[in-house]
Amino acid sequence: MPSILVLGIFPSFLFVNLYMKSTGLKNASFARLTNDSSQHSRIHSDKLLDGLLASGYEEESCISRFQSYLYRKASPHKPSQYLIYKLRKYEDLHRKCGVHTKAYNRTMVKLLRSKNHSAATMCKYLVWTPVNGLGNRMINMAAAFLYGLVTDRVLLVQFQSDMIGLFCEPFLNSTWILPKDFPFNNHHRHIETYQNMLKKGKGNDSKGIVPSVMHLNMQHTSNDPKMFFHCDHNQDLLQQVSLLILQSDQYFVPSLFMTPSFNTELIKMFPEKDIIFHHLGRYLFHPSNEAWGIISRFYQAYLANANEKIGLQIRVFVPQHTPYERIIELLLNCTLKHKLLPELDKQNTVSSIWENQTLKAVMVASLDPVYGDNLRTMYLSKPTATGEIIGVYQPSHEDHQKFHDDRHNMKAWTEMYLLSMSDVLVTTSLSTFGYVAQGLGGLKPWLLYRLTSNQTHDPPCERDFSVEPCFHISPKYNCEGKTVEHLSSLYPHLRECVDYSFGTKLVNDSE
Ligand SMILES: *[C@@H]1O[C@H](CO)[C@@H](O)[C@H](O)[C@H]1NC(C)=O
Ligand SMILES: *[C@@H]1O[C@H](CO)[C@@H](O)[C@H](O)[C@H]1NC(C)=O
Ligand SMILES: *[C@@H]1O[C@H](CO)[C@@H](O)[C@H](O)[C@H]1NC(C)=O
Ligand SMILES: *[C@@H]1O[C@H](CO)[C@@H](O)[C@H](O)[C@H]1NC(C)=O
Ligand SMILES: *[C@@H]1O[C@H](CO)[C@@H](O)[C@H](O)[C@H]1NC(C)=O
Ligand SMILES: *[C@@H]1O[C@H](CO)[C@@H](O)[C@H](O)[C@H]1NC(C)=O
Ligand SMILES: *[C@@H]1O[C@H](CO)[C@@H](O)[C@H](O)[C@H]1NC(C)=O
Ligand SMILES: *[C@@H]1O[C@H](CO)[C@@H](O)[C@H](O)[C@H]1NC(C)=O
Repeated sequence: MPSILVLGIFPSFLFVNLYMKSTGLKNASFARLTNDSSQHSRIHSDKLLDGLLASGYEEESCISRFQSYLYRKASPHKPSQYLIYKLRKYEDLHRKCGVHTKAYNRTMVKLLRSKNHSAATMCKYLVWTPVNGLGNRMINMAAAFLYGLVTDRVLLVQFQSDMIGLFCEPFLNSTWILPKDFPFNNHHRHIETYQNMLKKGKGNDSKGIVPSVMHLNMQHTSNDPKMFFHCDHNQDLLQQVSLLILQSDQYFVPSLFMTPSFNTELIKMFPEKDIIFHHLGRYLFHPSNEAWGIISRFYQAYLANANEKIGLQIRVFVPQHTPYERIIELLLNCTLKHKLLPELDKQNTVSSIWENQTLKAVMVASLDPVYGDNLRTMYLSKPTATGEIIGVYQPSHEDHQKFHDDRHNMKAWTEMYLLSMSDVLVTTSLSTFGYVAQGLGGLKPWLLYRLTSNQTHDPPCERDFSVEPCFHISPKYNCEGKTVEHLSSLYPHLRECVDYSFGTKLVNDSE
């Protein structure tokens, strides 16, 4: 065993012992940690999520990186050796080309001189810019990172104050935050756009038209159906651009799978195709110490002692037209029908079943307190028919989704993370907040039907077939420019989403 492992493990192992005693985490996981002689290497492999994470980080700067494995069941999904190899290689590239390195400085100088025509540079970059809410941003950042991995681009993220302080730095010994002195921050108007380049080139791949700095807009609202991002001829063009500034709120990973030149590489990286966000999300998104403080305290206070944890994520898209009573009815129709929550025992005021006092903790994430309040009142008013005890907890409510507000994003992030620690997850169709939670947790959620008025719906919910997020703006044209009814039907690992039939998501071959 290399000495760095021994040094890294021994003190943290002692810490784990103390920690487990003080928090009442499950005895089973305690035994898992203390049992046999291979305990040290096992702790090490658990902590690093089977090699997904690099070793060598300082513990104090990002406590969640070292503790989160104590709060979750070990994931049954192991990253492939090839993915691990790609990640370590990427980290080297990021250190070499990262912000304010010699290579970065040289590249920026060169690009400032030649942004309108192609220029060969030592490093290539993908700059992520924020659009829409935190859920959209996170699924999009994961997609952007994967795009960077397959095209050897360094990912830099433009975080404003509303995102600073949510996450730890993901890449060892370097930063992913775009610096304040990034030279293309204030030049937006003069930078060529992908759409404009396509218009000029009319699908012709002559080299002269490719600038070295370009805006790539793949936003939900301004999606150009003919952008051919999933086609080799356009990826060949994009490959010549040194600095791509991405504006998107989408999980465009299915597009990358459709691209012939990326497909083989992606299948090698992800032999299980439906856990891509699960791996990339756990690799990239580590709660900052502040976020981890909130998450771990909430967990210890309300969830740690439960026999089962149920996450309910309720998003109401048109609240002014959708009475909350209907949503609660739908939620109960779903959770009672599928026995996620027990029926009430209406005959008795005190439970007659004594042998069965298991505790189910229900965590409700919603902008409106009415859902948690109603459910809590309901389970306090009568015993359950099964004898189970139901605790209902709702960490926060914000009334409406707020953009550009750092406290709001801190709440959103900590709640997505807490939901991901559930054993069973119920989410609202089309909510990217739910996608992040299901992806991090590796959970196939029950998708509640999306009510938008005083209506009813049967079935109230449907089980998703994959833990991957849905790509809402799936391409409508094949690479020859012909419209195809549902392009994903031509690919073995892609399927229509359960919650949005125009969307596409990844699925394993076997399913
Ligand atoms: C310890 O590990 C051994 C074999 O790995 C197993 O048989 C035993 O049940 C474990 N003990 C506990 C307390 O988990
Ligand atoms: C790169 O440029 C920055 C800002 O001008 C400077 O602080 C830094 O020292 C430079 N890096 C190197 C390696 O010269
Ligand atoms: C990261 O930085 C630390 C401290 O400067 C250094 O000891 C370590 O070798 C570095 N690791 C890598 C992979 O660069
Ligand atoms: C570069 O291209 C942009 C967008 O097409 C244009 O507005 C600008 O004038 C060009 N700059 C130079 C130096 O050619
Ligand atoms: C494509 O580019 C080549 C070389 O610049 C040119 O000869 C040809 O006419 C172009 N084709 C179209 C369809 O624009
Ligand atoms: C005890 O609870 C379980 C669900 O946790 C249920 O399946 C079972 O029927 C309950 N037992 C009784 C006697 O109600
Ligand atoms: C919703 O519809 C039900 C009957 O379907 C009706 O009783 C109720 O008053 C309606 N609620 C609102 C707020 O319109
Ligand atoms: C819930 O289920 C009941 C009974 O099947 C049905 O009458 C009602 O319309 C459902 N509510 C909703 C909101 O779908």
